[in-house]
Amino acid sequence: MENHNDTTTVLFICLGNICRSPTAEAIFKKYVSDEGLDDQFEIDSAGMIGNHEGSRADGRMRKHAEKRDFVLESLSRPFDKDVDFDRFDYIIAMDGSNISDLKSRARNEADLSKLHRMTDYCVGFDYDTVPDPYYGGAEGFELVLDILEDSCKGLLDKIKK
Ligand code: 4NP
Repeated sequence: MENHNDTTTVLFICLGNICRSPTAEAIFKKYVSDEGLDDQFEIDSAGMIGNHEGSRADGRMRKHAEKRDFVLESLSRPFDKDVDFDRFDYIIAMDGSNISDLKSRARNEADLSKLHRMTDYCVGFDYDTVPDPYYGGAEGFELVLDILEDSCKGLLDKIKK
């Protein structure tokens, strides 16, 4: 079903849906909730691969997020082009590889017009990608949180305008 009501629907995308996009989902939900706007948003995340389907977010990502009071509750699921392109207004990807994958699955111009890069909403940081932290150390998870806090603020401000 296409979204025709006043709800803004946002889907965050990364590769595995266990590190970056579930973190974006949790941070954005918290910012929306802090402003009392829960009933105006539907917020979800998904991955370009289904390898981790049904799993909670990576334990390292959850630990780093919880130090900043973000609780990651979502379960991994793969992106479904036949449902998600219709259901979401904003489909926001973490890196260029995600964007390429999404473009290759787009069915038409309307689908393509929904694609965005997370870092395009940064206000204080100058990154063009949210780097995959999966094979790295603690600094990578902290950097993901830094970039996502900044870009989620920018995203909410933009949608509110
Ligand atoms: P994410 O990180 O895309 O931020 O969830 C990854 C998680 C798992 C894999 C790659 C990236 N993986 O290849 O399993």
